This record gives sequence, structure tokens and C-alpha cells, in this order.
Amino acid sequence: MLAIAVIGAQWGDEGKGKIVDLLAEKANMVVRFCGGNNAGHTVVNPYGEFRMHLVPSGIFHREVTCIIGNGVVIDPAVLFEEIDELKRRGVDVSKLFVSDRANLIMPYHILLDGLEEESRGSGALGTTRKGIGPAYMDKAGRLGIRTGELIEKESFHQRLRFVLEQKNRILTRVYDAQPLSLEEIYDKYCQYGERLAPFIRETDLMVQEALERGETIILEGAQGSLLDIDFGTYPYVTSTSTSAGGACIGLGLSPARIDRVIGVFKAYSTRVGSGPLPTELFDETGELIRKSAHEYGTTTGRPRRCGWFDAVVGRFSARINGFSGVALTRLDILDALPSLKICTGYKLEGKTLKNPPSNSGLLAKCEPIYEELPGWQRDISQLRRFKDLPPEARSYVKRVEELIGCPIDLISVGPRREQTIVVKEII
Ligand code: GDP
Ligand code: IMO
Ligand code: MG
Repeated sequence: MLAIAVIGAQWGDEGKGKIVDLLAEKANMVVRFCGGNNAGHTVVNPYGEFRMHLVPSGIFHREVTCIIGNGVVIDPAVLFEEIDELKRRGVDVSKLFVSDRANLIMPYHILLDGLEEESRGSGALGTTRKGIGPAYMDKAGRLGIRTGELIEKESFHQRLRFVLEQKNRILTRVYDAQPLSLEEIYDKYCQYGERLAPFIRETDLMVQEALERGETIILEGAQGSLLDIDFGTYPYVTSTSTSAGGACIGLGLSPARIDRVIGVFKAYSTRVGSGPLPTELFDETGELIRKSAHEYGTTTGRPRRCGWFDAVVGRFSARINGFSGVALTRLDILDALPSLKICTGYKLEGKTLKNPPSNSGLLAKCEPIYEELPGWQRDISQLRRFKDLPPEARSYVKRVEELIGCPIDLISVGPRREQTIVVKEII
């Protein structure tokens, strides 16, 4: 029996999808616990290349039960599109289940996400505009509508009427926008409810029972720890707890049941959207990484901002999550570079910092202190053993490991399952 959390350790897009798909080979269950379709997890395997937004990345393994937990916010239209696409491409979805407690993304959430962003002008957060923030606001404000409510049509209608009256006042009076129609939304979501019904379960119970049976469960994180609502670069964050603690709340799992927490780190840094990225590269090296690594958002297609590996952030992330091990991804992307930098500390107003300041304005002013290491300048994407890596690549990995203070168990050298160097078996 093992419960292993797989957590994004930076600003998202670290390669969680690939790692979860890989680990799921030896698991019985994969569960998503936070975020919504702001996530885009790429999986490349014998079925082809997939971009997963809501369905857990374990779905490609026939025997694995996949669960969308209560902590996830669900846009039913996106979920059905994803399910249809998976089926069309020959993937079995008969073991996919959805929590009865998950909040739904409603049409007004998507509308308000866009309107709020526009109202922020140059201070926009750069959200994915999928309705994530407004949906979590309603969840906390007790105005959310949950999957399990759609089957009780009368009470659903009553609650929707109350919520929509409020939303329409905001839409028309604050944003000068058109009001939304109660009956249209009601009808659409009743239809969604009927299609969702066979998937709905008390998933907290399913997870606990699986653990009682001695099964192995992967808790699939979304986003990254620096986008966490409490520990991220606030306010440039998402609206949920993306770090390891979120897995317990997002599934109904006791913290005492989590055995391992695997941090997924990219071998450098990227960020989509606004907010500080201390090691950001504005020169041709940044452009080279973006182009050669195709660093464009999986969900929105926006160019990702690229920079050197930030070990200050790495250490912080390891501390708040308690990583027991690390998967270091995209090491192959650094193949062409003659020399590499790692940020080991920040300079701020004459002082040296070893921990990122909580204030995003101050973080944006931090100047990275770099250590330079030689590059290896050869293709490592076909290598499968740590000892076969060029000595410069081994030194880079070892230095990252030392600076973040966690053992690196997996090294990923390409998007496909087999392009992985196993330093230590996780399962
Ligand atoms: P996620 O959101 O954390 O699952 O990450 P994304 O899927 O958004 O972005 C990671 C990208 O890197 C995807 O295109 C993956 O296919 C790809 N990828 C994952 N690991 C590796 C790797 O080791 N090397 C290379 N070149 N690509 C990788
Ligand atoms: P995965 O799971 C990268 C970012 C957005 C924006 C901020 C808030 O693929 O790693 P939101 O729509 O959540 O309110 O946007 O968070 N963001 C992500 N960045 N990867 C993600 O998910 C992200 N999910 C949200 O770009 O800056
Ligand atoms: Mg992604």
C-alpha cells in the first residue's frame, strides 16, 4: 500500500503528466485533487500524444481507476470533450469517476474571469480565463454548485436562481455586460447532470477503500507550488492549494496516509502569465530555450517565459511540500547550451536572501546570484542510465540535488515514457 503525491515544484508545466503516466504503470488508482482545466498535462505514450485537462494522466492504463476528486473544479463541456477524444482514440474510460462534491464551473465563472482580467488592465494576472478563480471564489463563498446537486433538479433550480440573480447584478451593474438566462443554463446543466450521473461517486470513500485493500495510489497534482494560493507568488497565483497539503483536502485523505511526495522540477524555469520570475532570461538564450523546447502553454498556447534553474525557489518548494524525492524533467533541453547557470541566492537591497520573499513586488526586485556550470553539448535523449550521462550533466544534476536538499530519483530526457533515467525506483 502506497499513496504517492506528484507535485509541480515550480510554476506549473514541469512535466507532471509524463511522470504520472509513467508511475501509473505500477499503480492501481490515479486521482486529481486540485485545479481544473487551467491544467494541461501532456502525455506521450503508445496511444499517441494527449493533452489532459481534467482526466487523470493514469487513464491509459486499463487496470487503473482514475478519479477526479472533490478539490477539482469541473467544466462539464471540457470534461465530455476530453472523454470523447479519449474514446475516439481507443482509450478505455470505463474506470473514470468524478466526485459528488466537486464544484462546477458555470458559464458566469468563465465570463467573470475574462471581465475581471480586463478590469485589471496592466495589472492583469494572466489567468487562463477558464473560470477557475471565480469558481473557487464561489466555493469558498458557499455559492458553488456541485456535481452531486445536478440530480436533484428542483433544488438545483432554486439554488441556481439565487446565485444567478447575484451574478447577473454583478454582470450588468459592475461590468455593463448582458445578463445570462436562468433557463438556458438550467437546461444545459440538467443535460450535463444526466451525462455525468454514471461517473459520479463518493470518491473519498473509493480512495480510502483502495488504501485499505493495500493498493497503490498516485495523487496527481496540477499547477505548481509557486502558483499555490498561500505559498505562491501572490496575487499572481491560481486559486487553490496546489502543494502537497492540497491533496488531503482535495480528496478527503488523511495527511498521515501519504507515504511519498515527489516534486517534479523542470531542469530550468518557466512561467506562463504574469508575476515575478527572478531568473527570467530576456536574451537569445531564453529565446533558444523557448523555441527549441517549444515552450508554449498546453492550455492557452501562450509563449512561456523561460529562465535558469532557481534553487532558492527549489529549496522553498521542497520545504513546504516535504519532498521525499524529485523527478527532474527536460534535462535534454539543455543539451545545446555551452554553459548553464543555477540561481543559489538573491540580492535584495544589499542583503543576500536564501528564501524567496512573500511579497511579489520584492521578489520581482530580487537579483539572482548565479553559479555557472559547464554544459555537455551532446544529445542525451537516448541515454537510460545515470552513469552514461556526460560528466557535466551528472554534475549539474548533483548540484541541483544538493541545493534543493532532496534526492533526484528520476531524470527525464524526453517526452516519452521510456525516455527516463531511473536513479531510484519510486514504486
Ligand atoms: P505538466 O502540466 O506538468 O504535465 O507539463 P506540460 O505537459 O504542460 O509541459 C511539459 C512538456 O514537456 C510537455 O510537452 C511534455 O511532453 C514535455 N516533456 C516532459 N518531460 C520531458 C523531457 O524530459 N524532455 C522533453 N524534451 N520534453 C518533456
Ligand atoms: P499545469 O497543471 C502553468 C497559471 C496561469 C496564470 C495563473 C492563474 O499544466 O501545470 P488561473 O487560470 O489558474 O486562474 O490562472 O496560473 N496557471 C498555470 N501555469 N501550468 C498550469 O497548469 C497552470 N494553471 C494555471 O497561467 O498565470
Ligand atoms: Mg501543463
